[in-house]
Amino acid sequence: MNNFHEWLSKKQMLIESLLEKNLPALCPESDLNEAIRYSILNGGKRIRSTLVFAIAEIVEVDLIIIEKIICAIEFLHAYSLVHDDMPCMDNDDLRRGKLSCHKKFGESTALLAGDALQSLAFSCLSYQSLPIKPEKQVEIIRIFSNAIGLQGMAKGQSLDIKNTNKKITLNELTIMHQYKTGALINASCLMPLIASDNNDANMLDCIDSYSKSIGLIFQIKDDILDKEANQDVLGKTPGKDEKDNKSTFVSLLGIDESKKLAANYYESALTSIKPLGRKADYLAGIAEFVMTRTH
Ligand code: IPE
Ligand code: IPE
Ligand code: MG
Ligand code: MG
Ligand code: MG
Repeated sequence: MNNFHEWLSKKQMLIESLLEKNLPALCPESDLNEAIRYSILNGGKRIRSTLVFAIAEIVEVDLIIIEKIICAIEFLHAYSLVHDDMPCMDNDDLRRGKLSCHKKFGESTALLAGDALQSLAFSCLSYQSLPIKPEKQVEIIRIFSNAIGLQGMAKGQSLDIKNTNKKITLNELTIMHQYKTGALINASCLMPLIASDNNDANMLDCIDSYSKSIGLIFQIKDDILDKEANQDVLGKTPGKDEKDNKSTFVSLLGIDESKKLAANYYESALTSIKPLGRKADYLAGIAEFVMTRTH
């Protein structure tokens, strides 16, 4: 596990180059194109993509398939952040330490950049020359579609808005976050696994349950950082959840109980991947990284 951080920074560098390669070329007269590049190539942690690489340490997945899956995930995630920051959603001026997309390019361009990023994601996943059986490729697109739409991220975002200025139960909050953040993280683990020819039902179960714990740790930590981190490190506006009276783990449980809950999910994540042995060390490293991240 000593080499985890070395592995992580190598993968993060590779991810940056793959994203750059899969973006449309910069076209000087297009604001939309510039807004898309601005929203992708601006220093995300790439956690969902590193999960894809960690799965590829367990089962064999062709590099071109990994490339298209991670680009789809990061394009989609970037779209979700662009729209999440807009005045009709969280109305946030800062993202990844820079002006949010609508602050820099205006609302209509930000809206369209999000739309175009979503379609670029599907274009990656439906890439024609992938060395994969067509039915598997369709299955991957289906997993992705389900994770981001009416039974996934979009539903979670809608619950997030609905649950603002409202007292909800821990169960309702957990469900909201499973949709909002967890579904895409779950898909990020399942897509490369399905793409491989050497997965099995047991492995799918282990990784499915690992990813569900990671999704929850991830959002609990996001809520904690909103309260505890400073703006320079966070790269977003801290204290925004409290100011907007959002339903979060921190607003419902307080900081200490939220940390305990994250620690419980961390233990569950490690227990889920235990049957996979040392091959799952990178997944364990990511679980720790998600627990200890500072932004
Ligand atoms: C932030 O996601 C939004 C949530 C789903 C909580 P990340 O923390 O992964 O954002 P980046 O990509 O690293 O900026
Ligand atoms: C956003 O959650 C989740 C998405 C699906 C984009 P948040 O609103 O908590 O994310 P941040 O804190 O703005 O990054
Ligand atoms: Mg939000
Ligand atoms: Mg937000
Ligand atoms: Mg947040």
